[in-house]
Amino acid sequence: KDLYAPERTNSHGFDLKDPVDVATYEQLRAPFQATQWETGPILAEAAGGEAAEPVHNPADPSDVVGTLRSCSKADVETALRLAKPWAASPNQRAETLKQAADLYETCAGEIFAVLAREAGKTPTDAIAELREAVDFLRYYAAGTSELDAPARGVFSCISPWNFPLAIFTGQIAAALAAGNGVLAKPAEPTGLIAGLAVQLLHRAGVPKTALQLVPGAGSVVGARITASPDVHGICFTGSTATAKSIHRTMIDHCEPTAPLIAETGGLNAMIVDSTALPEQAIKDIVASAFQSAGQRCSALRILYLQDDVADTFLDMLFGAMDELVIGNPWHLSTDVGPIINQAARAGILNHIEKAEASGAVLKRNNAPSTGIFVAPTVIKVGGIADLEEEIFGPVLHVATFKAADLQDVIKDINASGYGLTFGIHSRIDDRVQLLSSEIEAGNIYVNRNQIGAIVGSQPFGGEGLSGTGPKAGGPNYVARFTRPERTISQL
Ligand code: NAD
Ligand code: ALA
Repeated sequence: KDLYAPERTNSHGFDLKDPVDVATYEQLRAPFQATQWETGPILAEAAGGEAAEPVHNPADPSDVVGTLRSCSKADVETALRLAKPWAASPNQRAETLKQAADLYETCAGEIFAVLAREAGKTPTDAIAELREAVDFLRYYAAGTSELDAPARGVFSCISPWNFPLAIFTGQIAAALAAGNGVLAKPAEPTGLIAGLAVQLLHRAGVPKTALQLVPGAGSVVGARITASPDVHGICFTGSTATAKSIHRTMIDHCEPTAPLIAETGGLNAMIVDSTALPEQAIKDIVASAFQSAGQRCSALRILYLQDDVADTFLDMLFGAMDELVIGNPWHLSTDVGPIINQAARAGILNHIEKAEASGAVLKRNNAPSTGIFVAPTVIKVGGIADLEEEIFGPVLHVATFKAADLQDVIKDINASGYGLTFGIHSRIDDRVQLLSSEIEAGNIYVNRNQIGAIVGSQPFGGEGLSGTGPKAGGPNYVARFTRPERTISQL
């Protein structure tokens, strides 16, 4: 593979179209099909922890993946007291993070198994997730060579369940690369993969005072580690509502200069005009809306089809949806895995049922009856203003537009206030340029799908309600975890 990209620095991962890679993938993962993992607080000294709770596979309730203990209130205080910046040179930090990247790759089989069984990741998603985590470690490690500003101190890194390894690792790696200590709080549903990641980072040589794992509820553990003057910055990825609540907490409790780096939700649109290549567009719509069961911040939520091709495109879309395999993500043939938990599923179903009652559902696949699934669904809407909130699942809303009304569509999309991803399918260069310059979104994708940003090549992050920046996997990210450089002027 290197023959074709000798300069490539991103992780290779596994190619599921290559039978040799497929066999290796299955062989690596097989020993962990029934493993039960145990995780709890991982602190710089012995921790107590709350009672162990079982973790169930969302695709198969009979599969107990392990047990998770949340931090007790006393554990969180211990973690806050013991947290310290990482006293190592930039070069030592970089070498340690690179060592961790290698360990992640060595443990690929175990990681794939936890991602499938705890987080419902299909093989495609699990491979991409490990690659992204490894890329973050190596990319931010490389970033230390350009740093000449000091660490801020201690960062609270608070992550979502939908990229439980990649985003969890990316936040920590950037904070550590800059020399900070980290309190890492994973999302409630995905503590086991977080525990495995922290063990690997410690094994690579990150000191325990520089990285502690504080699992637990957002409203308890998360709230505490965002309300402390001993925390000098917060790196958060999750919903816009939680980011706002953290911001309010910080104003009352943290030093005024403590940064909040927040990557949040989106109401992501794609515009497909009548010059789009139908087969390509349909493939990209299906991937953008339904891969990862739509549980991506970047996922396509509202598709604008030009009116004169809308019927043809919808017929093709529904045909493509019929080919999707929905089921247990352990199987290589599965395209769409489960929803993370019952509460999330209930919220998505409530939205679909309301649309069904008003006759707006155009297509709904079948979903397995055991496990936590929602069938990919298409709902007709008038425009983005009809979407009250981000529906975090495999639900695609479709509106039509006339070419003469394109400026109104642009205005409506921008008026949502979100600005994460945006997709264009068109072969008219002027139109592509107009949309790329006028739509306010952090990541714009032309004639391709709009998910799966690659570290280093596609720095990822939104505008407006979708995030504060700087972009993850981009050149300015690690610097945000440092204090501003001192300027010394002498006559
Ligand atoms: P969430 O906001 O519910 O939770 C995110 C994290 O915040 C979790 O660890 C949670 O425990 C914690 N938390 C909750 N309340 C808290 C509080 N009061 N104080 C401190 N921490 C608190 O989000 P989620 O459901 O885990 O993830 C899905 C959301 O994340 C979606 O909105 C999605 O768009 C967004 N997301 C954004 C990006 C991005 O890069 N922009 C990437 C992935 C996910
Ligand atoms: N970085 C992830 C994506 O682009 C969120 O899909």
